[in-house]
Amino acid sequence: MLRSAIQQSLRRGTGSSASQLNSRNFSSSTPHRKVAVLGAAGGIGQSLSLLMKLNPLVSQLSLYDIAGTPGVAADVSHINTRSQVMGYVGEDQLGKALEGCDLVIIPAGVPRKPGMTRDDLFNINAGIVKGLCTAISKYCPNALVNMISNPVNSTVPIASEVFKKSGTYDERRLFGVTTLDVVRAKTFYAGKANVNVAEVNVPVVGGHAGITILPLFSQATPQANILSDEVLTALTKRTQDGGTEVVEAKAGKGSATLSMAYAGALFADACLKGLNGVPDVVECSFVQSNITELPFFASKVRLGKNGVEEVLGLGALSVYEKQGLEALLPELKSSIEKGIKFANQS
Ligand SMILES: NC(=O)c1ccc[n+]([C@@H]2O[C@H](COP(=O)([O-])OP(=O)(O)OC[C@H]3O[C@@H](n4cnc5c(N)ncnc54)[C@H](O)[C@@H]3O)[C@@H](O)[C@H]2O)c1
Repeated sequence: MLRSAIQQSLRRGTGSSASQLNSRNFSSSTPHRKVAVLGAAGGIGQSLSLLMKLNPLVSQLSLYDIAGTPGVAADVSHINTRSQVMGYVGEDQLGKALEGCDLVIIPAGVPRKPGMTRDDLFNINAGIVKGLCTAISKYCPNALVNMISNPVNSTVPIASEVFKKSGTYDERRLFGVTTLDVVRAKTFYAGKANVNVAEVNVPVVGGHAGITILPLFSQATPQANILSDEVLTALTKRTQDGGTEVVEAKAGKGSATLSMAYAGALFADACLKGLNGVPDVVECSFVQSNITELPFFASKVRLGKNGVEEVLGLGALSVYEKQGLEALLPELKSSIEKGIKFANQS
């Protein structure tokens, strides 16, 4: 029951890919796909590894961490689903973990504690991400990279600089995972609009921290005309502060792990569908972009056999959303620049 519920949910996806993976698109000749989770023994990593083990699009699941992966891999490997699981621990095994990967998911790093912003994580996580991306450029330069490690607004630019330096950068293959913002926006919207949450779609654009997270409730479906400006403002704020809500509730024991693993698994599933040629897979992600003056921006993107096939525009914004967009640009710009500077200085 649980497995089929989770698998159905993975197949549904978070965006307009919702109806894509039906029996017509899903055949027994599903291609071989190797997926690595870097940071697999962590709070997000363990649940994400479980969910990726349940994904029938994965044939090889490579679990890497600096400690603890043999146990996680042995545990997950007993689940009777398609993928073969291998655990790798320590830097000297990183190459083996990455070789031949189609998709690398990175939830490695330290999470927030109460009172910290995502930016406070910068110094530790920036170094971790830089090291891991250097290895990716060496061992699986063609893999899609799903960056979960925070601050995503900076770690994605760091990754791009590392890949540029090694001559392996392909902007279509690098993604900041902002799916949790979409998942939260959908949940909170459905609660207020009193609509079936399974049918809700809400694009979330901008970045992945505080006010840089801009949910576009004016484009939410199903439409709910009854929502007042006050409610829309509260929904926006709750989506922006969703991470902090969890950090505070966990009171020092970390940040969102379970909902993040769910969101990460949904986004990875969408990437795999795109790689496999499923048409019209659309998700929000923080990617290289020219839809604003900033070099990276989260918006809806169409996924395909090479990663990003098309960065979709913002669509019509309400006055409130236009103000939100203007307000977020300076902060997002400075986080992007901070990442680029770090990558080029250190
Ligand atoms: N994108 C998002 O929406 C989102 C949401 C929540 C958390 N996060 C971020 O995800 C990251 C992980 O969070 P968590 O709660 O799982 O933390 P955690 O501390 O529970 O786990 C992190 C794991 O990373 C591992 N690690 C550290 N350095 C490593 C390295 N060099 N190589 C491989 N693994 C390494 C640790 O050993 C640990 O197992 C944090 O940066 C957090 O801020 C992102």
